[in-house]
Amino acid sequence: MSTPRYDVITIFPEYLSPLSLSLIGKAEERGLLATKVSDLRAFTSGVHKSVDDTPYGGGAGMVMSPVPWGEAIDVIAEEAEGEGLSTHTLIILTPAGRRLDQAFAYELAQKEHLIFACGRYEGIDYRVTDHYSTRDHFEVIEVSIGDYVLGGGEVATLVILEAVIRLIPGVLGNAESLKEESHTLRDESTEPLVEYPNFTKPPEWRGLEVPPELLSGNHGLIAKWRVAAAKERTEKLKDQTRE
Ligand SMILES: C[S@@+](CC[C@H](N)C(=O)[O-])C[C@H]1O[C@@H](n2cnc3c(N)ncnc32)[C@H](O)[C@@H]1O
Repeated sequence: MSTPRYDVITIFPEYLSPLSLSLIGKAEERGLLATKVSDLRAFTSGVHKSVDDTPYGGGAGMVMSPVPWGEAIDVIAEEAEGEGLSTHTLIILTPAGRRLDQAFAYELAQKEHLIFACGRYEGIDYRVTDHYSTRDHFEVIEVSIGDYVLGGGEVATLVILEAVIRLIPGVLGNAESLKEESHTLRDESTEPLVEYPNFTKPPEWRGLEVPPELLSGNHGLIAKWRVAAAKERTEKLKDQTRE
């Protein structure tokens, strides 16, 4: 796969400044991926640089106009095609979208070009979804990070990018650690499990000791303890979400 590219379109570009930090920033410095944040207002015409208007049919709030969105997405797609990328996955952030989970993050990590459309107000005119769903070289996915309503798509984009980028080969120092993580870890029934609890030095802290199996040096015993602990923790979590 060519170097993946991640574009973000927003009216608050500063919101995305964490992209230059930590794991994502380092991965970009190492040439493993490219990110670009674009200001939607740069694609407006008129002195007011307006991006929203009143909803057809009435009701509270404002809706983002499809006009600057279309301009911005077309320019970004053309730029990416100039860099040799041929397919574009337009991610429209919305609480009405497909919920992000680890399996979905793995799917997104296979894509060569993600374009994140960060909504504000009541969201983006739905014709943007409809238009790019039928355009050659585009696929559109509406994505939610959970069943709650945020003020905008910027934080959701950061969440998705953080989940996706650490799955790209070479980004994590030790790719082995991905196999044993929550929601990837499986038991013999192939049910996804959350990770077992982790411990480090000192061996005793505030009267609490590390489980003796982990200090035994016996790899079989450690593996067995970890699977049992992961199952127990998964069950506890299921009970909490059922309550
Ligand atoms: C106030 S919300 C709009 C909510 C919309 N009127 C509704 O009821 O579905 C503004 C923007 O925040 C973003 N957003 C809010 N909650 C989100 C979530 N759970 N996941 C992803 N994006 C979200 C979307 O981009 C959305 O367009």
